[in-house]
Amino acid sequence: MSRLIIVSNRVAPISEGGPAAGGLAVGVYDALQETGGMWFGWSGDVLPSGQPQIQVVERGPVTFATIGLARRDYDQYYRGFSNATLWPAFHYRTDLIQYDRHDFDGYCRVNAWLAQQLVPLLRADDVIWVHDYHLIPFAQALRAAGIKNRIGFFLHIPFPAAQVLLAVPPHRELMQALCSFDLLGFQTEPDLRAFCDYIVNEAGGEVARAEVPGPAAVRAFGQSLRAAAYPIGVYPDEIARLAKAGARGKPVRTMKETLHERKLIMSVDRLDYSKGLVERFRAFERLLDSVPAYRNQVSFVQIAPPTRADMNAYQDIRLQLEGESGRINGRFAELDWTPIRYIHRQYERQVLAALFRQSHVGYVTPLRDGMNLVAKEYVSAQDPDDPGVLVLSRFAGAAQELTGALIVNPIDVDGMADALAQALAMPLAERRARYRGMIAQLRENNVSVWRDNFLRDLQGTGEKRRTPRAKPARRAVAA
Ligand code: ADP
Ligand code: F6P
Repeated sequence: MSRLIIVSNRVAPISEGGPAAGGLAVGVYDALQETGGMWFGWSGDVLPSGQPQIQVVERGPVTFATIGLARRDYDQYYRGFSNATLWPAFHYRTDLIQYDRHDFDGYCRVNAWLAQQLVPLLRADDVIWVHDYHLIPFAQALRAAGIKNRIGFFLHIPFPAAQVLLAVPPHRELMQALCSFDLLGFQTEPDLRAFCDYIVNEAGGEVARAEVPGPAAVRAFGQSLRAAAYPIGVYPDEIARLAKAGARGKPVRTMKETLHERKLIMSVDRLDYSKGLVERFRAFERLLDSVPAYRNQVSFVQIAPPTRADMNAYQDIRLQLEGESGRINGRFAELDWTPIRYIHRQYERQVLAALFRQSHVGYVTPLRDGMNLVAKEYVSAQDPDDPGVLVLSRFAGAAQELTGALIVNPIDVDGMADALAQALAMPLAERRARYRGMIAQLRENNVSVWRDNFLRDLQGTGEKRRTPRAKPARRAVAA
């Protein structure tokens, strides 16, 4: 059997042996435990000086090969083009896009350099699976280095509408590089459609959608590849087991004691402007405004560990949320009740799952999200006899599958307040029926299915290449 090589910018923290906050690390970590293989990517370290060296560590079935980034590479590739240009653009925040062509040069340079670091670790029959927007030029760089293995790519975040992608100045070079992969995976059908639309209407390429289930055939920029939607999943039964076990732990017992008999609304996100937190807080405020009976009867817990904290847009959203939670709590709090508990900590998976199980409402309202694993974790963690209700943004990829949720528009504060009221009052029979439909869907499309479907289709892509194809968009060595 071929060895699986995962390549991603973010790698689950090796020392803790478990995933960080972030859907990629959580999903890939779970997927690799069964197959084993190598996981190559950034160590998370930024080196003030010196030449970064690969560290190789074995942990059970997985070999972690990680490398630090020089300060200039981190600034241009990670903070710059990946997170100040691509992240806002792919999440439809054109107002937040910043672009500097030196950052794009750095992004291409780091991709080429990372590819060079990986090459000596590769064997001829390895299957290479690259993840996320940081590494769009990675296949092109590997091909230029003479690598002929099959190379697939999965995008964890949304793929934007063509008119939005056009706002990224080097969109054509990026899409040409993306077409160097053998197989592209997107989270949902709408993402796949947006990609195909760009290929046909902006790149002058061709797309043949398969008549039987299977990836579409794409021809563009002189290259042939396949593309399909593979919605990432979770292991719902494992999460349910963790949720039950975690209920006996101290954090959850303490939370229950401080709640008394109040109902609990629960949210967990990285502190990102794409998550719709400001609108979410305002909708909770609107609920307390419009239904006074809920005052001192409902608590809202928002867990949001800071992320990318050295970027202005993330400092701004943090300040804005601190202002909003302070204002709303100042308005409604009583001596024995704080309406919003806003917590910046990271928690173990077991604690989060147990908190989800204790809560009456899972409140997941991103403005845009590739999938949103939290929504799937929330449903998985519920007690089948007395499940909570999921309130879910229509702009999360998960809304395509979790149709038993109360689906909301995350900018409609009144609509979200109405959905919260409906969720808090929902009869048991309706909660059970909605839960049953959603848990069946999560079992059918768990994270093994996601991985196996993608790898099956990648194995099925044409003959391995005999010669390197295109040159990378930019060639350079790392700083
Ligand atoms: P994203 O990838 O944008 O962060 P997802 O919802 O897809 O969004 O994935 C987030 C993952 O990170 C989930 O598995 C979630 O449980 C985990 N996570 C989020 N916040 C925390 C936290 N405070 N502590 C621990 N894990 C967290
Ligand atoms: O799943 C989306 C994702 O963007 C991953 O690509 C990323 O690793 C994660 O969220 C968290 O962001 P970061 O790696 O910048 O901390």
